[in-house]
Amino acid sequence: MSNQLLKGKKGIIFGALDERSIAWKTAQVAVREGAQIVLSNAPIALRMGKINELAKECNAQVIAADATSIPDLENLFSKSMEVLGGKLDFVLHSIGMSPNVRKSIPYTDTNYDNFLKTLDISALSLHKVLQTAMKLDAINEWGSVVALSYIAAQKVFPGYNDMAEAKAILESIARSFGYRYGFAKKVRVNTISQSPTATTAGSGVSGFDAFYHYADKMSPLGNAPAEDCANYCVTLFSDFTRYVTMQNLFHDGGFSSTGVSEMIVEDMLKAQEMIAKSNV
Ligand SMILES: NC(=O)c1ccc[n+]([C@@H]2O[C@H](COP(=O)([O-])OP(=O)(O)OC[C@H]3O[C@@H](n4cnc5c(N)ncnc54)[C@H](O)[C@@H]3O)[C@@H](O)[C@H]2O)c1
Repeated sequence: MSNQLLKGKKGIIFGALDERSIAWKTAQVAVREGAQIVLSNAPIALRMGKINELAKECNAQVIAADATSIPDLENLFSKSMEVLGGKLDFVLHSIGMSPNVRKSIPYTDTNYDNFLKTLDISALSLHKVLQTAMKLDAINEWGSVVALSYIAAQKVFPGYNDMAEAKAILESIARSFGYRYGFAKKVRVNTISQSPTATTAGSGVSGFDAFYHYADKMSPLGNAPAEDCANYCVTLFSDFTRYVTMQNLFHDGGFSSTGVSEMIVEDMLKAQEMIAKSNV
């Protein structure tokens, strides 16, 4: 079903790798809601991923850009405005990668070159996207930029490693740039803090399965699926959220406001009983 929430709007969607990607699902919903889009990803992801299938389905052009490269971003924004026939109304930053997570390097033994790469790819890239868009005056007034975050920005999740710092910086950039872009051009910048989601980036975090199930039991509504995250992104691109900016918005089934749930308490009691029995 379509409500044509994005009728006549144009946007760039970064980060669709395969059908599990949050960006993949957001592209599908945005187009269903009437938007015209350009898809972008890093050159290596374009070679390895399945983005051309999505491009066909969405009638979209694919333009490669390493989101850490200003020349790549300048080329992407200029070409997107040509292809789409005007300025943009929305951008989805759905980008994350940590070489320390990939190589299972413990946080306390971090490799600092990797750490800097994590921050550049997963956080500073949002600043670079916003700076390029602003310099090229590529986004219409009341346009909306959304980046995806995770609650490890506020609370410790050990397996998330240096991505926690990246997400804290990402959320801060959304506030700091959102302030300036709001005054300058009425462009909105927000982050969505999403539940654990089984994607390539998500499943790469050590202990993902365990904390996926833990979060599911802690959240009154359960973990938020990727499809619903896509719907939420689209509402933030739409004119129904025109005065929302500089926010980190939890899309997590209530996880962030829950101290402990009865289900988790029951699990703990069962585990204690089993330990007591095995000690008899
Ligand atoms: N999966 C989860 O549990 C979860 C939870 C909260 C937030 N997020 C965030 O959602 C976003 C999307 O991740 P996903 O879960 O859909 O996984 P995904 O692996 O499908 O997407 C990550 C994307 O980042 C892209 N990328 C990496 N380096 C890049 C670069 N240099 N330039 C451009 N693109 C680059 C990858 O090619 C990939 O398409 C990320 O920011 C992630 O941290 C994910």
